[in-house]
Amino acid sequence: MEDLDSLRSELMTSVEGAASIDDLEAIRVAEMGKKGRITAMMKGLGNLDPETRKAAGQNLNKLKSDVADALETRKSEMADSELDARLMDERMDMTLPPRPEEEGRIHPISQTIEEVVAILGEMGFSVIEGPDIEDDWHNFTALNIPPDHPARQEHDTFYLPGNGGDERLVLRTHTSPVQIRTMESGEPPFRIIVPGRTYRCDYDATHSPMFHQVEGLVVDRETHMGHLKGCLIEFCRAFFGVDDLPARFRPSYFPFTEPSAEMDIGCTREGGGLRIGHGDDWLEILGCGMVNPKVLENCGIDSSVYQGFAFGIGIERMAMLKYGIPDLRTFYESDLRWLRHYGFSPLNVPSMVGGLNQ
Ligand code: DAH
Repeated sequence: MEDLDSLRSELMTSVEGAASIDDLEAIRVAEMGKKGRITAMMKGLGNLDPETRKAAGQNLNKLKSDVADALETRKSEMADSELDARLMDERMDMTLPPRPEEEGRIHPISQTIEEVVAILGEMGFSVIEGPDIEDDWHNFTALNIPPDHPARQEHDTFYLPGNGGDERLVLRTHTSPVQIRTMESGEPPFRIIVPGRTYRCDYDATHSPMFHQVEGLVVDRETHMGHLKGCLIEFCRAFFGVDDLPARFRPSYFPFTEPSAEMDIGCTREGGGLRIGHGDDWLEILGCGMVNPKVLENCGIDSSVYQGFAFGIGIERMAMLKYGIPDLRTFYESDLRWLRHYGFSPLNVPSMVGGLNQ
């Protein structure tokens, strides 16, 4: 008995003092393995007389299970603290600035597109894309610009090799063909915006052969000019960060809208500089209108049930006005000094809650 008591305290001490899971395993093998001390004592029970054997057997079993429990407890403590240590080691301090220091800048075109998407996305528009290479039908005919229409001349189209007709391929001259693709392939209602590249054979201080637009299209059962105006006024106020920005809609002409309008916003031109906001002057900002019923019908939509409004925004122009970039051509020169000056932090993603960089 005394032997067992001292063995128990010896074993408990060594379990307590074990430094690793390997140490614990060594103790288990030395005591309870095939050739272990407790195992040998169990085997020795057979030589005892029945009375003594019963009591000794119980004591020995108790010792064995207590030691096994102690080993298990210690082992799981060690596993926990090993995990804690590993987690501490892998800890990241999210308050530290990124390393290496951020170097890239977001191009003002990308930034402006993200801002437009953030504002209109919040209003419930979905972002859709379409191909840069279009056929004649989607770029022109379906938009109510048939082959002999004078509006075709204004588009300075890049034609791709081909044999003419509705299948002739072009580099899209505007993002409006994506209106057609969307209406042809789905069911109204539609609320979409289409950011993307557009192409025209024109190059000077205010024109580039490749530029960007964002198209907007809403089609529903009760869509009217009030919706168009509310949406675009709200958009311009959010984009330029001027809560009471004055706006007006001037009658205009686009084949795919009827009536058509151009939207102007208030500005001042004091001392050669341009400031958006209250003032005595107006600045043309975008084209818009109610979708021409012919366009709806071209896409198989019943124009006696559905109406829509549409708009087209020139991204370069919006970026130049908001960020005071004077020359269009600098957008495409890939000049790193320019990009460092006019570019944006990649960590500052525009959003309506986080801010738009005004
Ligand atoms: N597609 C026109 C252009 O590139 C812009 C435009 C004007 C788009 C009016 C529209 C719109 O959707 O309603 O000149």
